[in-house]
Amino acid sequence: MCGIVGAIAEREVREILLEGLKRLEYRGYDSAGLAFISPTPNALATQINTIKTVGKVNKLVSAVSKSKAKASGRIGIAHTRWATHGKPSVANAHPHLSGADIALVHNGIIENYEALRAELRKAGYTFDTDTDTETIAHLIHANRAGGKVSLLSAVKKTVKRLEGAYGLCVIDNTEPDKLVVARSGSPLVIGVGIGENFVASDPLALGQVTDRFIYLEEGDIAQIQRESIAIWHKGKKVNRPTTTVKHQTADSDKGRYEHFMLKEIYEQPRVIQDTLDGRVSKSSVLEQAFGINAPALFDKIKSVQIVACGTSSHAGLVAKYWFESIAKLPCQVDIASDYRYRDIIAQPDTLFVTISQSGETADTLAALRYAKKLDYVATLAICNVATSSLVRESDISMLTMAGQEIGVASTKAFTTQLAILLVLAIVLARRTGLTTAQEAKLVKELHKLPGIVEKTLGLRKQIKTIAKQFSDKHHSLFLGRGIQYPVAKEGALKLKEISYIHAEAYPAGELKHGPLALVDSKMPVVAVAPNNDLLGKLKANLSEVSARGGKLFVFADESIGYQSEKGLKVINVPRCSEVLAPIVFTVPLQLLSYYVAITKGTDVDHPRNLAKSVTVE
Ligand code: G6P
Repeated sequence: MCGIVGAIAEREVREILLEGLKRLEYRGYDSAGLAFISPTPNALATQINTIKTVGKVNKLVSAVSKSKAKASGRIGIAHTRWATHGKPSVANAHPHLSGADIALVHNGIIENYEALRAELRKAGYTFDTDTDTETIAHLIHANRAGGKVSLLSAVKKTVKRLEGAYGLCVIDNTEPDKLVVARSGSPLVIGVGIGENFVASDPLALGQVTDRFIYLEEGDIAQIQRESIAIWHKGKKVNRPTTTVKHQTADSDKGRYEHFMLKEIYEQPRVIQDTLDGRVSKSSVLEQAFGINAPALFDKIKSVQIVACGTSSHAGLVAKYWFESIAKLPCQVDIASDYRYRDIIAQPDTLFVTISQSGETADTLAALRYAKKLDYVATLAICNVATSSLVRESDISMLTMAGQEIGVASTKAFTTQLAILLVLAIVLARRTGLTTAQEAKLVKELHKLPGIVEKTLGLRKQIKTIAKQFSDKHHSLFLGRGIQYPVAKEGALKLKEISYIHAEAYPAGELKHGPLALVDSKMPVVAVAPNNDLLGKLKANLSEVSARGGKLFVFADESIGYQSEKGLKVINVPRCSEVLAPIVFTVPLQLLSYYVAITKGTDVDHPRNLAKSVTVE
């Protein structure tokens, strides 16, 4: 997804911008670029210089090092682009220019860009790119009226015409002492320095220069100079608080691991512990952790509506089983991109829950905004980013303490989401008859979770060996029954995301209604078999696969004593209770997808065509 960095300082800003872009690489992108207000060759004036490349930021770094004089300035803007309008190309990469003086970077999508483009064409503007962004640059240029209107006023006038989402950062060679930024639907944060200031779409990008940030609100426009920051909202000057954010540098460092994904898989015992810390006492759940107003809101709840995307939606599907079985509450789970466009009939007394790693996923945010107009009791965000739009716009929130997740394929965010959802199920179950003794039993299980996950990571070597059997395959099936079906879905998603092997998940009972026709010796079938009441039925489903010559890989609870035989490889998973099984059985499936991808040699942390945080529709 696109990333923005901007800087104005007394010193050279080149390295600040490049480092910022590197720090945003985890979001996924396909091209990158920079613009500076640089001295002209005779040093008597200034001019806008841009450098843009397709591909990784490292390519931009090489291009910059070849033309340092051009890539130089005390004010500059930078961008990583994830193509939405027009293919990845140097022309389409940001920054975009209008005339010789205006350069701009933009995150988001302008929905009325075609109408604006037609209007600007009539006014004599020509377009060199396929992007919606170039329209904004020209509109600002037009609104400057040949210099009669200041850059700030021109931006204010321009954003009134924009429909869609934007985070913008603009420079103008005729006003070389300022960055003008605007936010609507796409995050922007100002980094506060001493005698220098910065802007970025994510504070992470500025961790090397400051730990003080001003989060812009929806609709804010700001003028950033070396010594001052001024912010306007709906035409009025406003003050926004400065927040100190301590950066966990360890998160953006692979350490001894070859990939962020592997590091993040291995962090799970610790981050699950961090997520439970302070939220769960020895024998009960501390429901105030959901916020001071939460207990009173929870008292009213008679059903739950969950909305999320991708991996986070799988966490919701697992939680549905917990809400039903533990809290005895009906629960509906919807994909955000679908929910937001339906005629939703909100059930009375329902808690609306969003789940998101980033808290910036456009569809999830839009679903939340839609839900707020409906008759829900409250909105709860389960999210990994405290400062995200989702958290800020929800009535209450509960943070997963996964730390920064960089691998595009989500791992530790998912298992920490599950930990929170289980805690939520317990909190709601208190109101529907869960006794203190039953709660204490569940909490005891929760306390065992980090240790069991740690033990499960010990399966790494075995999984690495079987992964080789997947590398030449084109298709695979993942099976699970009941609450393990969403676990199978998550396993299949991981495999397709990073190894590009087609993987489909099925509830094992559905096998005979179609997918069995696909089974032959070329189709690996992965199954998750915890020790629960459905085990007998699952085994019967798996025999149907063996009988058709299918190659089975079964992750089975060690207490079952499932034996490997010809065509059936059993990997024993450390013993765990039924309630923890969805979290524990996720871990070997993460490792399987990781090692299959390694065997295939794909780009594990940055799989093709995918982005970490999808902030456009
Ligand atoms: C993208 C990511 C997925 C993630 C999904 C939802 O597709 O690649 O890993 O599950 O977005 O993101 P969120 O931040 O809302 O959990």
